[in-house]
Amino acid sequence: MIAGEDVPSDHCQAMPDNPPSRVMSLKKPLHRQTHGLIAQPSAMASGFAPGKCILFGEHAVVYGHPAVAVAIDSGVRVSVERSNEWTLEGIPFEPSRHPHISHILNAVFEYEGPPLKMEVESNLFSAAGLGSSAALSNAIGAALQAHINPGQSLDPISLARMGHSAEAMAQKGRASPTDTATSALGGCIVVSGQPVDGTKHVFDAELETPEGIREWSINSVDLPDSLREAYLVIGFTGEMSSTGKMVADVAKRLERHPELREEMNSIGRITSAGLTAMSAGNLEAVGMAMDACHGKLRLLGVSSPSLESLVEAARPHSLGAKLTGSGGGGCMIALARDPQRVAEAIEVVGGRPLISRLGAPGVRLLED
Ligand code: PMV
Repeated sequence: MIAGEDVPSDHCQAMPDNPPSRVMSLKKPLHRQTHGLIAQPSAMASGFAPGKCILFGEHAVVYGHPAVAVAIDSGVRVSVERSNEWTLEGIPFEPSRHPHISHILNAVFEYEGPPLKMEVESNLFSAAGLGSSAALSNAIGAALQAHINPGQSLDPISLARMGHSAEAMAQKGRASPTDTATSALGGCIVVSGQPVDGTKHVFDAELETPEGIREWSINSVDLPDSLREAYLVIGFTGEMSSTGKMVADVAKRLERHPELREEMNSIGRITSAGLTAMSAGNLEAVGMAMDACHGKLRLLGVSSPSLESLVEAARPHSLGAKLTGSGGGGCMIALARDPQRVAEAIEVVGGRPLISRLGAPGVRLLED
């Protein structure tokens, strides 16, 4: 099983029979490098890209509000080296089963070089809202670039764009740039329909979706040192989650109960308050905003009994706790000064914990 590509439904699908000729339209052209440019391919090149957690704004971001995500310590490592045959994890590589990898190889790099032996290692839970497919795309993009052009430094924005185009291709032209941008840039990223006060604008992304053109502003936030006193504890419920299904369920619920729009607006306000608290380094206020955000997500119907059980177990030992990502399974997160204590509490009720710094570094090359 390959990280990020064992994901159900819309998160990752087999290559469509008739892929749209142009799923991605970017304001800046993709960073293309062909085999024709190769002077001396490296023996082996390895890249690592982190996963992500959404701290605030999931679901509301679909309705134009900002979302705040942080890169986490866990992620995906990919290594590539020349070989006599195409292999992935020691077995023959079947491009149609690995749409993200195939897209980066063929559509982005237009790779026509000798066969590659590719190895993938991941310490992320898959289909759990941690951005494993985005991390896979960014890590393979980094490893390929280093293999083709050894010595050239990585451009995280180009990698974020490559990763987004791979996600869009694998998700029928519908993919937000949140996961790929956070994994590529690292730190704390705010994705919104328009620039957000108090953040640094990094780049804009645009995608031609079946519903029309969508545009996003990708911004970063410098996290003050005081936030480093706390850690994120991620708790995996063990249940996979489909983002497309959860987003569609919320849309149906909003149609039946238009009053729920007010909960969406509340998530937007909580996200702004959470962002202000983060910029000020006020951990207590960040935790309170996480609790409040979880309450609103519950009202939208995207929590689940297992998420509730993990959130409830973590709360007494945390500054705040909430579900993260699309919900309906997947993961919750807690902000804690004593992460081990929270990890134990999560394990006691059957969750699988993962501890991370808040805002880990983005995509990078690894020395072997
Ligand atoms: O579960 P994830 O990481 O795919 O997060 C989905 C976030 C949503 O807001 C629910 C959907 C989206 O496209 O932003």
